[in-house]
Amino acid sequence: MPKVPRFLDLPGHGGLPPVEELAIGLMATPASIAPKFFYDALGSRLFDAITELPEYYLTRAEAEILASSGDEIAAALPRGAVFVDLGAGNCRKAVGLFDRVEPCCYVAVDISLGHLRRALDAVQLEYPALDLWGVGMDFSGAFLWPEGLEVPAGRPRLLFYPGSSLGNFTPEGALKFLRDVHRACGGAPGSGLLIGVDLEKDAATLEAAYDDPLGVTAAFNRNVLHCVNRSLGADFAIEDWRHVAFYDPVQHRIEMHLEAVRPVEVTWPGGRRAFAAGERIHTENSYKWSVPRFEELLAAAGFAGSCVWTDAGARFALAWAPV
Ligand code: AVJ
Repeated sequence: MPKVPRFLDLPGHGGLPPVEELAIGLMATPASIAPKFFYDALGSRLFDAITELPEYYLTRAEAEILASSGDEIAAALPRGAVFVDLGAGNCRKAVGLFDRVEPCCYVAVDISLGHLRRALDAVQLEYPALDLWGVGMDFSGAFLWPEGLEVPAGRPRLLFYPGSSLGNFTPEGALKFLRDVHRACGGAPGSGLLIGVDLEKDAATLEAAYDDPLGVTAAFNRNVLHCVNRSLGADFAIEDWRHVAFYDPVQHRIEMHLEAVRPVEVTWPGGRRAFAAGERIHTENSYKWSVPRFEELLAAAGFAGSCVWTDAGARFALAWAPV
């Protein structure tokens, strides 16, 4: 019998139902929409387009690290591990490591099972003998080892969190999340976390990466209003909102907002909100780390150590943190 991917649709932990979370965020002052709502089918494609932009160096810098330090990184990682990919998306980054780390099985976790189904079918064609799991869960509130996964006991666990997705968490949130990940790594020798984070740098470089002249990031940001209209039954008009992105060097973060270009009234079943011209909805934080601050964070989360590689321009860091 040929192998086929298996799927688990699990509720998130410690979070509200999406409709309630959206309504609470929209009624707050300042209003906010969590970044997990960016990723409908179009949002995922717009994000993929962002990674191709000349200004968005993160994806290329991470790939450069894997190309230039791949042997050294692979030597640090466990062989035959349970490979858990957090925010797997199209699974391509993880698949690129398979021939080096020879996982015993692959567990792709993402907020949307829909994308994972297609992606894992493609992975299974390439790796017909590998056990594949797709887990749909929202781990933005907390990450617990997925209940119902059937994976071999006693194997090391390799958790993979690339792409600087950690940047969406505040430093306090990141610490809590990494403690969850450390717990999920379990106790088998060789287990650990391979994680990518963007590094702090001059504001002009950062701001160009999040406000590109083609307007792809603006489209990505404004598309979240389509997602909210669909999820909440709201009536946002995209033309009423402009993309704003800036770097705050004190908090070490890019902030993205949507700013009302005129007075706007938005309604949804059970709610309404008036926005003055110039009023903003906060849609994303993207925190930037320094190597020492990041290594401190990993240690505080319980990891035994960390080995960090950067690209030649020291724009991005990839860290291996053993349990
Ligand atoms: C997917 C969270 C890593 O913060 O760089 C890209 C999302 N937002 N451009 C990032 C994003 C605007 C991205 N992460």
